[in-house]
Amino acid sequence: PYVITEACISVKDRSCVDVCPVDCIYEGEDQLYINPDECIDCGACEPECPVTAIFPEEDVPTQLRSFIAKNKDVFEGP
Ligand code: SF4
Ligand code: F3S
Repeated sequence: PYVITEACISVKDRSCVDVCPVDCIYEGEDQLYINPDECIDCGACEPECPVTAIFPEEDVPTQLRSFIAKNKDVFEGP
C-alpha cells in the first residue's frame, strides 16, 4: 500500500482524498492516513500531495519508516 508520512502533519492538504478511487484515505488527529487493507496501489494520490508526504511502502525513506506502522495501527490497532 501507499503510506502517508510526516510532511502531512499540520498541512493536511486533502488533495489526495479527492483523487483516491476507493476512498481509503482517512482523517486522523494529526495527519491523514491510508488504510493498507483498502489501498489498491493505484498511485493516484502520490503526485497530488503538495508536500510529498505520500510514498509506496517500499519507497518510504529510511527516516520515515515508522510511518508504515503508524498508518497501519490507525486501522488495526498497535
Ligand atoms: Fe488511494 Fe490509490 Fe493512493 Fe492507495 S494509491 S491511497 S488507492 S489513491
Ligand atoms: Fe496530507 Fe498530502 Fe494528503 S498533505 S492530506 S498527504 S495531499
